[in-house]
Amino acid sequence: MLYFDHSATTPIHPDVLSLINGLNQDIYGNPSSIHAAGRKAKHVVETARKQIAAAINCTSKEIIFTGGGSEANNLVLWNMIYRNRKHVITSAIEHPAILAVLRQLEHLAITHTIVPVNKYGCVNPEDIDSAIKDDTGLITIMLANNEVGTVEPLQDIAKIAKKHNVLFHSDGVQVLGKLPIDVQKLGVDMMSFSAHKFYGPKGVGALYIKEGIAMKPLIAGGSQEKSLRAGTENVGGIAGLGCAAELVTKFLSDVGRTLTALETQFKTKFSEQHTNIIYNGFEDNHLPGLISLTIPGIASDLLLIHLDNEDIAVSSGSACSAGTISPSPVLKAMGISDKQNLETIRISAGRDNTSTEVDQLIKVMTHAIATIRRNAR
Ligand SMILES: Cc1ncc(COP(=O)(O)O)c(C=O)c1O
Repeated sequence: MLYFDHSATTPIHPDVLSLINGLNQDIYGNPSSIHAAGRKAKHVVETARKQIAAAINCTSKEIIFTGGGSEANNLVLWNMIYRNRKHVITSAIEHPAILAVLRQLEHLAITHTIVPVNKYGCVNPEDIDSAIKDDTGLITIMLANNEVGTVEPLQDIAKIAKKHNVLFHSDGVQVLGKLPIDVQKLGVDMMSFSAHKFYGPKGVGALYIKEGIAMKPLIAGGSQEKSLRAGTENVGGIAGLGCAAELVTKFLSDVGRTLTALETQFKTKFSEQHTNIIYNGFEDNHLPGLISLTIPGIASDLLLIHLDNEDIAVSSGSACSAGTISPSPVLKAMGISDKQNLETIRISAGRDNTSTEVDQLIKVMTHAIATIRRNAR
């Protein structure tokens, strides 16, 4: 299998897997128990908290473990029901775990404004400034987009949030392990993470909450995670998240170089063989290794089937909308026509991909495109 869909999920790192397997075998205590077995499990959870905190430059007190990125986003947004200022500002290219929640919250009189993006998928901080109202309580803008990889100007947005004394959350799910993250430098108040996007296990995530920000739980009924996330902790998963965060931070610059090289190789060689290809996203500042490309005249679902038949995994739009044939709202928001939208695929490389694999991908894609064109005649 040639796996080029790392933005959907990553294979678990072997060190992370062996850690989890070992822990699930040996560390069976409940972290809330006061006996030795419980204390051992608690120690595992707290070690992981330190690891993720170190990876994003915060203190471990500022980390809450969740059941993934979607839950972390939900926790932030559902807290709006307790806040005095009930208006949220977000962008048109956020993940559904933001936009769908905001639609739900409308029923509870939490209003929102969606700011547009330009053709590269960039939010203009001035649009955020203009959208601030007296009752704006939260700005939520992702650090980088999952479909086109565009990195958003978080530092500028943070200044605006600060000026208006508005909380600033960012969905950082796609970024950990690909670009450095320093929550202090970025100036965010909250940031969401998901282990399975950085070679950790699925179903476990984290939320950075800057010290001093009052929060109430989404899942109530226990004092775990400072009473912000009830339920016996997923000890193995949390340990896996911590270990993965440490590993990807350690190898960040190497992996970044590899991903950039693979991306450049693909774009250079593919463009030599195919004309009229459109690369979407912001060339100057995007996630390394994520390539969103539109191939005019080639329906992405057909191309995906051809590649799948050759045991190659890429995706059309985001994983969350895979399987549907409706145009991606992200590409739509960037002004891409519905026709081109449905001719767009996302290739996302990972740490284990090789230059030979990229050549093989280009070869199979070229063959598939020729077949699709021939069949269309
Ligand atoms: C930007 C972004 N946010 C949130 C999520 C959801 O994360 P999880 O799968 O951990 O719920 C994803 C996953 O696709 C994502 O890409």
